[in-house]
Amino acid sequence: MTDHYAVIGNPVAHSKSPFIHAEFARQTGQDIAYGRILALLGGFNKAVEDFRAEGGNGLNVTLPFKLDAFELAQEVSARASDAGAVNVLKFEGATVFGDNTDGVGLLRDIKGNLHFGIDGRALLLMGAGGAAQGVLGPLLDARPARLVVANRTPERAERLVERFRALGRFGGIALSASSYAALAGQRFDLVINATSASLADTVPELPEGIFACGSLAYDMMYGTRTPFLTLASTQGAARVADGIGMLVEQAAESFLIWRGVRPETRPVIEALKAR
Ligand code: ATR
Repeated sequence: MTDHYAVIGNPVAHSKSPFIHAEFARQTGQDIAYGRILALLGGFNKAVEDFRAEGGNGLNVTLPFKLDAFELAQEVSARASDAGAVNVLKFEGATVFGDNTDGVGLLRDIKGNLHFGIDGRALLLMGAGGAAQGVLGPLLDARPARLVVANRTPERAERLVERFRALGRFGGIALSASSYAALAGQRFDLVINATSASLADTVPELPEGIFACGSLAYDMMYGTRTPFLTLASTQGAARVADGIGMLVEQAAESFLIWRGVRPETRPVIEALKAR
């Protein structure tokens, strides 16, 4: 009997998740169907209930519903609780279980695929919205020496930093909030763009000289040359990477949660890059 999954969002037509999960299912011999659900703004809960009533087994949740999914889930994992956001739902009988695989997806891409070590390094996380909030916990768990959260609205970065300080398990890491201008004179080994500025084809106003020798610039958006990656290359980042690897890795973690099997990510990343 085929099990049913889907990605739910608004918009959702562009989502690569159906392709990724179809590849995972083919590779692992799992009998699943994976579709797309466009939910109305304000209509997330109803769309989820309808899908469940039709026999759906689980959902990936994308923008702008990750906070709604957190509210809807009856049980959440520790990492989803830290993030305050859910990107994967699993229906287990009467229970809706929520998890967040964005952070682990980012870490698996940076450490596993790109072979970039975070332990003891200086990190800059750009942005303080839902995307940044979803990955900050796993980034801190990777034990950088220093992590600065910079945001156009610095108060929002301050609130995000306070939220994670309050968790109390990141002692020994210099964690701080900043405006972009106040980054002048500092250098970072890893700079991650978690803003939505690329959607408007723009980049936060980074001062020059922040990319350390050998540094990696990582854009959580995907596309071969996002405005941020173009800027990073001209300002001295040694390596640049877009978020396609993170997308596939977070999907693989979702697949593992649903099916108990971890698919191979590399062939799927290669297939997406070739498309
Ligand atoms: P998401 O869930 O994608 O993170 P969000 O919660 O709306 O969406 O957050 C968007 C992030 O991108 C915020 O950090 C936002 O900065 P502000 O908090 O100052 O609004 C950032 N952002 C969006 N457009 C930007 C731009 N043109 N320049 C700099 N930062 C931008």
